[in-house]
Amino acid sequence: MSVVDLLGRPLRDLRLSVTDNCNFRCSYCLPAELFPADYPFLNASQLLSFPEILRVVEAARPLGLKKVKITGGEPLLRGLLPNLVKSLKTQFPDLEVGLITNGLHLQPLLSRFRSSGLDSVTVSIDAVDPDVFSALSGNGHRVETILSAIEATREVFGAVKLNTVLLRGENDDQVEPLARYFRRPGFNLRFIEFMDVGTLNAWSPDRLVSGAEVLARLQSLAESENLGDLIPLPKSHPGETSERWSWSQGNGELGFINSITRPFCGDCSRVRLGADGRLYTCLFASLGYDLRSPLRAGESTSELTGRLARLWSGRNDQYSQLRGVGFQTKGNSSRIEMFAVGG
Ligand code: GTP
Ligand code: 5AD
Ligand code: SF4
Ligand code: SF4
Repeated sequence: MSVVDLLGRPLRDLRLSVTDNCNFRCSYCLPAELFPADYPFLNASQLLSFPEILRVVEAARPLGLKKVKITGGEPLLRGLLPNLVKSLKTQFPDLEVGLITNGLHLQPLLSRFRSSGLDSVTVSIDAVDPDVFSALSGNGHRVETILSAIEATREVFGAVKLNTVLLRGENDDQVEPLARYFRRPGFNLRFIEFMDVGTLNAWSPDRLVSGAEVLARLQSLAESENLGDLIPLPKSHPGETSERWSWSQGNGELGFINSITRPFCGDCSRVRLGADGRLYTCLFASLGYDLRSPLRAGESTSELTGRLARLWSGRNDQYSQLRGVGFQTKGNSSRIEMFAVGG
């Protein structure tokens, strides 16, 4: 009984935010001046519990859900997260479960995540230079902690994806250092174009570094430093966000998530569940659909499945496709913030 939306797109992926809180203050997501340390993030009773999250996943499974990505805010601020992974993998063994984290608290949890059945880990890292990293994290964090967690993740999981958001004038000088550092087997470094998500991150086309520019710079780096060829790779699955390339001789992968200059709404199969139980059919949505109330009112799983099917079949989101470079779609002034849906 799988569903498609109004543009014929199936529902395959769920991005699951388990908290809106974060221990970083990246300027493009949670600018420190707007989000002080005592900012009132969601409290325990507002958050969906793990059993409630499992009910939503159970309800979405018959509709074609194949993959869950656990995100935040910073998901590792939610206690006992390996238990949630374990429950997901026990109840739904075929479901792919991934985690995206800033890496600060990752290393001590790696073996528990591995034994809970977690399939993949993505770590966000916007710089390898300690000063640039520390400034970007908004909280003076040390890049060494994150680099060490990344190495350990590759040891434990065999592979690790890295996400780098580039901001012109802030960390665009990190392209080459990052590429040199992670040009090794098991690393997949993805450059993400800075997006106009939410309303608080002062997005402007001047701050954007396009994927095409980064690719060109990496091709000339490869040439000037004799690093071998960069080889384009085919999509690994439909709806993939990243345009994939590999270094020759198995020296890892590169990816370009060009959501501004080459949007990928056409086969977007992602739904997002906010930590408070609101469901969003697009990263740029302004309205979430409350699932927490029906869950807490005792609605059955098949009724929830019906709700999800109705919601998905009425979906026609394609924000990035309609936006165009340097142009923000009008009439959407209350867009959800990235930290509330986790990207
Ligand atoms: P996998 O590679 O399959 O794990 O998924 P992914 O590449 O989507 O992974 P990840 O969660 O790391 O997403 C990478 C980044 O792509 C996100 O952090 C967002 O910045 C961006 N992104 C992901 N999904 C969407 C989307 O639906 N729309 C837009 N515009 N950007 C997205
Ligand atoms: N544009 C692009 N990527 C963003 N992320 C957070 N905010 C933005 C934005 N405005 C990325 C993070 C992380 C992932 C969850 O989303 O860096 O890798
Ligand atoms: Fe935290 Fe990630 Fe947002 Fe940075 S991008 S503030 S690490 S949630
Ligand atoms: Fe999907 Fe919306 Fe992103 Fe387009 S803008 S890829 S519809 S989440």
